[in-house]
Amino acid sequence: MSRKVTKAIFPVAGLGTRFLPATKSIPKEIMTLVDRPLIQYAIDEARAAGIEEFIFVTSRGKGALEDYFDHAHELESNLKKAGKNDLLEILRGTNMDSGAIAYIRQHKALGLGHAVWCARRLVGDEPFAVILTDDVILGEPPCLQQMIEAYQETGGSMVATMEVSPERTKSYGVLDVAEDMGAIVRARGMVEKPKENPPSNLAVIGRYILAPTVMTNLNKLKQGSGGEIQLTDAIADEIEEGRDVFGLRFRGQRFDCGSKAGFLQATVAFGLARDELKDEFADYLADVLSMRRAAE
Ligand code: G1P
Repeated sequence: MSRKVTKAIFPVAGLGTRFLPATKSIPKEIMTLVDRPLIQYAIDEARAAGIEEFIFVTSRGKGALEDYFDHAHELESNLKKAGKNDLLEILRGTNMDSGAIAYIRQHKALGLGHAVWCARRLVGDEPFAVILTDDVILGEPPCLQQMIEAYQETGGSMVATMEVSPERTKSYGVLDVAEDMGAIVRARGMVEKPKENPPSNLAVIGRYILAPTVMTNLNKLKQGSGGEIQLTDAIADEIEEGRDVFGLRFRGQRFDCGSKAGFLQATVAFGLARDELKDEFADYLADVLSMRRAAE
């Protein structure tokens, strides 16, 4: 089995109700951290990891997402005429090759596993990556690249993982660890959002490299946690059937941009990471904090 991973699935069919009213007219993946939409961070990470085919699983109302990836010819020629080469460069950096993107509709919101399964014909018999755009990760090298490097050694399937506090495990897929090798752990099981007795405090974060047999497991369309078809269950089935599943404790900072607090934290972190903003922004944050302290 080849270990080259060239395809990535981006499940982007979710309604984003936690960000209403903004998501009434824009897909949540278009919401921006500083000046780049969430989806752009995910695409950049996938490209850095060598991904060549980008498969979006969308739903009704995600038209703005498809438009975002069109080449903006008029805008490009205006910027060129005006000699705004730096902006032109930024814009061109978002261009995708013709034929590199595919869109598949998920017709019913039946869960993450179902969304991934919708892309089965495009994936075929190859290992593939899955990126959840809500999980934004600041890492060097980027998280998926770290995983691809680890996967070259291990094969099997791999999920990104990080330690969370015990009371947070109920919000995540959680690994049952068979062997802890430091950065890499071998899983003996995986449970989606355990209500009690989590097998560890190692949570699955939204980056996956999956063997094509995971798609076969998803064919069963079995209902799991919350009545939804869970990707976690299809990966756990791999272990049941004797195939390897690993977790990688990635190096980097993860932000849960599916929650308002996480989104705001990411905005601060990405703002402070930008050379042209960091001094002014840091001064502002320091002022806000000292005013708050003075008011207490
Ligand atoms: C999904 C997965 C879960 C994983 C999480 C990471 O859950 O089902 O296993 O831990 O993403 O963000 P969601 O947050 O979409 O409910």
